[in-house]
Amino acid sequence: MYLGLDLGTSGVKALLIDAGQKIIGSGHASLDVSRPHPGWSEQNPADWIRACETAIAELKASHPKELAAVKGIGLSGHMHGATLLHAGDQVLRPCILWNDTRSHAEAAALDADPRFRQLTGNIVFPGFTAPKLAWVKNNEPSVFAKVAKVLLPKDFLRLWLTGEHISEMSDSAGTSWLDVGKRRWSPELLAATSLDERQMPSLVEGTEKAGALRAELAASWGIASGTPVAGGAGDNAASACGMGTVGAGHAFVSLGTSGVLFAANASYLPNPASAVHTFCHALPNTWHQMGVILSATDSLNWLSEISGKKAGELTAELGDVLKAPSGVSFLPYLSGERTPHNDSAIRGSFTGLAHESGRAVLTQAVLEGVAFAFRDSLEALKTAGTDLTRVTAIGGGSRSRYWLKAIATALQVPVDIPADGDFGAAFGAARLGLIAATGADPRAVCTAPRTDATIEPDAALGGAYADAYQRYRALYPAIKGAMA
Ligand code: XUL
Repeated sequence: MYLGLDLGTSGVKALLIDAGQKIIGSGHASLDVSRPHPGWSEQNPADWIRACETAIAELKASHPKELAAVKGIGLSGHMHGATLLHAGDQVLRPCILWNDTRSHAEAAALDADPRFRQLTGNIVFPGFTAPKLAWVKNNEPSVFAKVAKVLLPKDFLRLWLTGEHISEMSDSAGTSWLDVGKRRWSPELLAATSLDERQMPSLVEGTEKAGALRAELAASWGIASGTPVAGGAGDNAASACGMGTVGAGHAFVSLGTSGVLFAANASYLPNPASAVHTFCHALPNTWHQMGVILSATDSLNWLSEISGKKAGELTAELGDVLKAPSGVSFLPYLSGERTPHNDSAIRGSFTGLAHESGRAVLTQAVLEGVAFAFRDSLEALKTAGTDLTRVTAIGGGSRSRYWLKAIATALQVPVDIPADGDFGAAFGAARLGLIAATGADPRAVCTAPRTDATIEPDAALGGAYADAYQRYRALYPAIKGAMA
């Protein structure tokens, strides 16, 4: 048995697979995000540990024997978060998350230093880790002075699981401190934010062993002490391992809290000007590109909250048959946007509202707006040299057929739906746990699931969607101007 632990923004998932990669069981626990000021997004690392314990307790209750047979553990987690630790590993402040944009001024200042784009292959986005440390230095100097280690969220879980400070390439690529081509920390970039390598975890590949389960936890869960923990991956690379998106030409669209259009690449293909992310993949010596939008299901959840209807109820009101865009447009920039705008100040909007614009029209506009944001990412990937001919859908939002049809039509590429199963980040993490424990060939393990159905772009609505996308494109500069 192998255990995958995924620390998602909205909850922790613990997933158990057997040696043949069959899913045996899972446990889950929810997490909240705290937004104490506009643009801020934080979580308390102690809550991650509690959620992990709850998820594993659930798994232990339903599958005690199988849990006891675990031979390897893999980790995945939301990326970029700054988890700051004092010398004795005490947490110094709440973790500043991937969708927190408070450090926009610091990010712009670091991005203006050409070494960052040159060595990391990426824009320094406010959501990345380095500008967050620069913000802490400027605004909480007494905290900054105490920082002994900076860990990414899933690596904080590793510290709790194993007692070790270790990270791996895919997540570390999102810090703005990694030399992404050479897969090692850049002392130069660390120095540019008044840090050095001693404050960073050591690095392994995602498929390598990176610590062993502590005796105390092993005893409480009934797992063998010393069970290996794999390097694992940031949640997007972990999902890619789960989906078999490991070879050039393979791509997925992920409808989670964030939205990600992910493409595996044959080599390191940086193109910071396009605002795509170019990161290390979890498999040794491989890389990937992705366009990232900050509010995907988060946009629908926002509408759900203000309308008092569950997200599933909102999408159910649309039915399954794709409608022509109504003329109401939604820009999903609730927390600003990464790809393609790198704009932390922009905010979302509805335009074109009329007396007859009811709730279903707003839901439709939200789903279309997110689909058009993915189209923007597709265009950005093309500029970066990656053209996609089909994508596989994953993430909670992909349960809505309507949304997938909107995405296929906006992107003008077929969207594959994997056969029933859970091929997301926790599954990818479990696969990495299996590889680290057995030494299996990563490419033989990280295969693609069977496709259950393919959603083709709606031929009749292609023109109406193309027009609506042009309206959507024109709105960003208008709204930006209105906010200036
Ligand atoms: C990727 C990103 C998000 C998080 C959230 O760059 O910020 O996809 O990993 O899960």
